[in-house]
Amino acid sequence: MSRVLLLLPTTTYRAHDFIQAATRLGAETVVGSDQKQALQDLQPTRGVTLDLRDQEKAAGQIAAFAAGHPLNAVIPTDDDTAVVAAAASARLGLPHNPPAAARAAQRKDELRRLLHAAGVPTPRHTVLSVDDEPAAAARQQDYPVVLKPTFLAASRGVIRADDPAGFVAAFRRIEAILRQADVQERGRDAARLILVEEFVPGVEVALEGLLLAGRLKVLALFDKPDPLDGPFFEETIYVTPSRLDVPVQDAIAAITADAARALGLREGPVHAELRVNDRGAWLIELAARSIGGLCSRVLRFGTGLSLEEVILMHALGRDVKDLRREPRPAGVMMIPIPRGGILRGVTGLAAARRVEGVDDITVSATIGKPLVPLPEGSSYLGFIFARGDSTDLVEAALREAHRRVRFDIEPAG
Ligand SMILES: Nc1ncnc2c1ncn2[C@@H]1O[C@H](COP(=O)(O)OP(=O)(O)O)[C@@H](O)[C@H]1O
Ligand SMILES: [Mg+2]
Repeated sequence: MSRVLLLLPTTTYRAHDFIQAATRLGAETVVGSDQKQALQDLQPTRGVTLDLRDQEKAAGQIAAFAAGHPLNAVIPTDDDTAVVAAAASARLGLPHNPPAAARAAQRKDELRRLLHAAGVPTPRHTVLSVDDEPAAAARQQDYPVVLKPTFLAASRGVIRADDPAGFVAAFRRIEAILRQADVQERGRDAARLILVEEFVPGVEVALEGLLLAGRLKVLALFDKPDPLDGPFFEETIYVTPSRLDVPVQDAIAAITADAARALGLREGPVHAELRVNDRGAWLIELAARSIGGLCSRVLRFGTGLSLEEVILMHALGRDVKDLRREPRPAGVMMIPIPRGGILRGVTGLAAARRVEGVDDITVSATIGKPLVPLPEGSSYLGFIFARGDSTDLVEAALREAHRRVRFDIEPAG
């Protein structure tokens, strides 16, 4: 029986999808986490405690564990664990990304530097320190620009500025996010940096891919039909297949493959975001992990395999190169948090589920808990999934379902 080690930073829904995938593939799962709670919640799955914050140390702990319990694959679930998985797989002699490549994918400043060096189209950028004087930097910009932390996700702290006053305000707001305790602990030195980029106009797509010994296999290309023009960049609807012309889709795949090569990524899932305008396709982000949240549930491959199964199959050395996504158009809506407050209740779910094409709605926010909208927050109210005869119908179903759900949010204090 194969044994896979699943690296989980915290309790996530993805844990269940990955454990279920491993079970279906007949592999034993061991969960590696630094959170006792995560291990507790996932019983009876076997667990091992790791210092995931210290990537080299965690890799050593994994190697020590593997000496007694041989591992066939080490599977990361986010940007940080991707670095641990790369380092551990290198020690264990499993196919892996070079640890430096996984580290570069985790850092937006390093990503930009490597993409520019390799000539991959990506926005111009400068890196500032939180100690810099924002008013001076603000005078030197060609507006609009985007300011962001270098290591966060889900658009947390990503802010567009159109003029010097907006620049200084965005800088201060990001500085405050970077002072939060959890952000400091995760980011360490990177929590002192603010990245400033040229704003790239255009439509946005997300590419879900798998690197097979250095070759990019496109698993799905999603259109993001809601404009993402800022000042904050709220993710909402993803629909696949893309409605862009095939040559444009090919260019997107080629640029993503070039970007992976520029970073040195070779094996396993990648999630890329690109913008397309009359000057071509531009790489905004490339992460060495699969799509976040519950979004993967919208994808099915071959005879009904989940994305997690495909990722595990590849990691276990099985052939996945001919697997394809089901042909039926599909989509997911990440339900954004419209304003801060306490979630008191959710109504209209039954009516929303009755919308033709809607497969499922999951509320992931917890009743009674505070909700933090962008740019400080990084979570969603929930997810809506739909399928249909065309991407237009899928998109319409997602919008109608969203219109029918009511989130009762009590303003805080
Ligand atoms: N330079 C840019 N030009 C235009 N839009 C951008 C730029 N940088 C970020 N964005 C927008 O903000 C979103 C989040 O930024 P990204 O760098 O991908 O951070 P995260 O890791 O939080 O997703 C992007 O998907 C895009 O919509
Ligand atoms: Mg992104």
